Amino acid sequence: MKTRVAVVYGGRSGEHEISLLSAEAVIAAMSPDKYEVTRYLIDKEGHWSPRAIVPEPGGNPEIDVVFPVLHGTFGEDGTVQGLFELADLPYVGANVLASALSMDKDVMKRVCREQGLPVVDWMVLERDGEGSAAADVAAKLPFPIFVKPANLGSSVGISKAHDLAELEAALKLAAEYDRKIVVERGIEGREFECGVLGNENPAASVPCEVLPSREFYDYEDKYELNLAKTVLPPVLPADEIVEMRRLAVECFKAVGCSGLGRVDFLRETATGKLFINEINTLPGFTAISMYPKMWEYTGIPYGQLIDRLIELAMERFEQKKATRFTR
Ligand SMILES: Nc1ncnc2c1ncn2[C@@H]1O[C@H](COP(=O)(O)OP(=O)(O)O)[C@@H](O)[C@H]1O
Ligand SMILES: [Mg+2]
Repeated sequence: MKTRVAVVYGGRSGEHEISLLSAEAVIAAMSPDKYEVTRYLIDKEGHWSPRAIVPEPGGNPEIDVVFPVLHGTFGEDGTVQGLFELADLPYVGANVLASALSMDKDVMKRVCREQGLPVVDWMVLERDGEGSAAADVAAKLPFPIFVKPANLGSSVGISKAHDLAELEAALKLAAEYDRKIVVERGIEGREFECGVLGNENPAASVPCEVLPSREFYDYEDKYELNLAKTVLPPVLPADEIVEMRRLAVECFKAVGCSGLGRVDFLRETATGKLFINEINTLPGFTAISMYPKMWEYTGIPYGQLIDRLIELAMERFEQKKATRFTR
């Protein structure tokens, strides 16, 4: 019997186009001997075609498992995962809570700090906060300072401020995208990414280094310029790679992730210290995306990675069945 997989893709997010590419790559890699794929395309306005998943148990008899290939808002943030829970369907990737908290750059850091994991110094501001926000921030954090909307991706709304005037402009920009703004100490150094795969006993891939072509890895660099480079395996001492992989697994566990996650790091050149920057619960999955490339390098080719993710979704669903929801 073939496994009937619903691939949900597109989405009401700035990463709609990337999702289309990721989904085509995922579908192309699913062996037709093993899988029967149904497409659920969500357009930029949030409408599903040819039909939507029904939010009721038993309401989707044509689906064995859902593979959400969505990035960013309404896809990676727990919202669509809530629908799969209501529908009582197995799905690939993080659950509602892990998705939502990983999306929030403040909550995610708090959870990591609670576990003793290294994150950069940061502060949170409210969009409509009182008084001289920029001066308050500058009194507490050294420049350069990164300013980010708390819940977004693709570097949208993110600025690197070098002085008070830039900081004021950066806060204004970030406030257009979120009520909650995260400001962070800027790390002068290098950037790395590490793939994680599994449920209870997750494993980390060989990491890679990302070399932005600009001052930081901004939207243009990610999607338009095509000049950023990646180095796999990274040029780093072996013990630092081991430590990065350990931290990636610890971060994955700390946020309660399942299936897959890509943990991104900043390494401060002056101190050699590693900081967890963020975890992406549905990282890019195109044929040239780093998550599958890192796993391929580590020994799991793209097709097998898909098989494993579907298995992990089924496993977690079976475990959940042992849970009582009523007296
Ligand atoms: N504290 C920081 N210090 C140095 N660079 C940073 C810092 N925070 C973010 N960056 C740079 O900005 C980019 C985007 O920030 P990130 O938090 O990863 O947001 P997104 O979720 O949009 O990818 C990073 O890839 C990195 O290049
Ligand atoms: Mg990032």
